[in-house]
Amino acid sequence: MSRSASLRIGVIGAGVMGGGIAQSTAAAGYATICTDISEAALDVARRDSEESRFGLAGSVQRGKLTASEADDARGRITWTGEFEAAASCDLVIECVPERLDLKLGVFRDLDAAAPEAAILASNTSGFPIVAMAGATTRPDRVIGWHWASPAFVMKFAEIVVAPGTSDETRDSVVEVAGRCGKNPIVVKDNPMAWGFVANRIYGAMLREAARVAEEGVADHAEINQLMVDCFRWPVGPFAMIKGAGSGWK
Ligand SMILES: NC(=O)c1ccc[n+]([C@@H]2O[C@H](COP(=O)([O-])OP(=O)(O)OC[C@H]3O[C@@H](n4cnc5c(N)ncnc54)[C@H](O)[C@@H]3O)[C@@H](O)[C@H]2O)c1
Repeated sequence: MSRSASLRIGVIGAGVMGGGIAQSTAAAGYATICTDISEAALDVARRDSEESRFGLAGSVQRGKLTASEADDARGRITWTGEFEAAASCDLVIECVPERLDLKLGVFRDLDAAAPEAAILASNTSGFPIVAMAGATTRPDRVIGWHWASPAFVMKFAEIVVAPGTSDETRDSVVEVAGRCGKNPIVVKDNPMAWGFVANRIYGAMLREAARVAEEGVADHAEINQLMVDCFRWPVGPFAMIKGAGSGWK
């Protein structure tokens, strides 16, 4: 068995993304410890991982998991206010809000608290991974692992390597993402532009959709429907913004 198969996974931040990521890694067989500074956020994440549309109970109903697989996944997740518990894992995925100062602080704290060999990954939507690596003493073990919402169902895994990220780190994270049922694609960090690949192209589309609405060509609902009908997108651009902000209940 490779090392990646038995890693313990820590998740920092139990919001829209962190809660779903913890559910995903636990369902993939990884002991997972998810922490948040907010007890209320932990309560919501625990409840959503169970009861939301893409939670464990719903996944059993939809035939995606058996009842015993869902039980096993539940048993593998620890929800805790203790940062050190999540930081003690072999692979830690940072999911705090998209503010660079906040993320740099979390990476500094993780670097101090995590085992020397631990990999520190960020689910940033687009900040340079090299910035996060620079906040640590282990740039070879810092990487981007960008998920999409809802984390449990989306196959998206944008794995972002900075110049200092080691091949071993990249290979471990690619393997874990594959075990989580994702389709990992490795891309290069580009500090000159926010958003890696998916969000740069998504951003261009949203900007154009907003311009079309501002010009009075069509309203939000009409634009959403046209894009779904023309390109078979699951939802239109304005529905995507809403889902990313508040989750897909
Ligand atoms: N929402 C999406 O669709 C989406 C998709 C891909 C990536 N992302 C990225 O994922 C990250 C998290 O986004 P989100 O939508 O889950 O945000 P969110 O606001 O729903 O959740 C963030 C959580 O982090 C917690 N937090 C803040 N500081 C913390 C700290 N120091 N330690 C532990 N927990 C802390 C907050 O209490 C909150 O519960 C962001 O970088 C975002 O850009 C979001």
